[in-house]
Amino acid sequence: VDRKLSVTILYDAVEDEEYAKAQARGEARAPLVYEEIGAILTAAGHTVSRLAARDPVQLAGALAEDQSDLIFNVCESLGGVPHHEQNVAALLELFGKRFTGSGSIGLAIAGDKALAKKLLNFHGISTPRFAVIEAGKLDVAEDLTFPMFVKPANADASIGIDHRSIVHSLKELLERISYIETEFSAPALIEEFIDGREIYVSVLGASKLEALPLVEWDFSRVPEGTPKIASAEAKWDENSTRYKDAPEVIVRDLPDAVTKALQQAAVDAFRSLKLRDYGRIDMRVRQRPEGEGKGPRPSGSLSEEEAAREAALEGWELYLIEVNPNPHLATSSELPLAAKAHGLAYPQLIERLVETAMARELR
Ligand SMILES: Nc1ncnc2c1ncn2[C@@H]1O[C@H](COP(=O)(O)OP(=O)(O)O)[C@@H](O)[C@H]1O
Ligand SMILES: [Mg+2]
Repeated sequence: VDRKLSVTILYDAVEDEEYAKAQARGEARAPLVYEEIGAILTAAGHTVSRLAARDPVQLAGALAEDQSDLIFNVCESLGGVPHHEQNVAALLELFGKRFTGSGSIGLAIAGDKALAKKLLNFHGISTPRFAVIEAGKLDVAEDLTFPMFVKPANADASIGIDHRSIVHSLKELLERISYIETEFSAPALIEEFIDGREIYVSVLGASKLEALPLVEWDFSRVPEGTPKIASAEAKWDENSTRYKDAPEVIVRDLPDAVTKALQQAAVDAFRSLKLRDYGRIDMRVRQRPEGEGKGPRPSGSLSEEEAAREAALEGWELYLIEVNPNPHLATSSELPLAAKAHGLAYPQLIERLVETAMARELR
């Protein structure tokens, strides 16, 4: 943007509290994302203020006063409640604010993993076969085989995800469903476990979309017996494998057709779930197990065109695991990493997000 703007960075006040607590414990913490973004915008000549969202009344009052040209929204929760991120966006919409990132509808749809899978299936984007049990009631039930993966259908940040998420028997499955329902009061999403490589595909844009280079959380050197999943421990515990054995790297060794197919699936998912500006799609890829003909969907249901596309994949199977409509934007996160590999350094990435939001027609 040529014009110098006044920008309000909006974030959940809980982030400040957690940062202060960690500091008091003497723990090193990565810089707060609103500070990283604030520094970039200030250096670019914009006038930056920040707004820590505490509760709906305080937030509404502050928004009524806010005179900025743009809200840079990095609220991933309100008062620490993750699913309220969609309501924060809805409030911004009610106030007629221009803001970065997905709107309330994208946040709501992608935040419900079972609903998202139903839509993705409709659009022909392959996800692991699944079943959903909500308050003891069966919602969806596909024909699943062990091992399976059980997770809350409406959580993120790997909440409720640990080594017991992978279940190998009926007993383990029932125990885990019960755990998810009692511990999180959430519907249990049961999927086939995809024993494959973990790939993140970032997407930028509003009407014209662009997929970035693939980032992999490389579990190949994780010791035998450690589950190769992005568990809560792996994500948040500094002593865990993530920091020791499992780096995040740019993928360079997948066949071109596989890379392109992953990026296309990510773009299709982004559009299907009504995301906006930026998002990150979690995927898994694996080479079809020897002697197994079945892909994510029965091969009989493939059109000629789809069959040709599958042949080009040389036996690789792609599965969409999860769509993140509001991924973390800290410099060390996957999306900025992917942007950098694409030639968009962090300041350019942030400026791009500002431009995309400024170009939007407000309705
Ligand atoms: N069906 C599955 N097969 C294999 N691994 C899975 C599956 N579902 C989730 N995982 C693992 O669990 C991690 C977290 O799951 P995800 O649905 O992305 O939850 P979150 O919203 O917490 O990121 C994934 O990154 C992946 O490592
Ligand atoms: Mg995820």
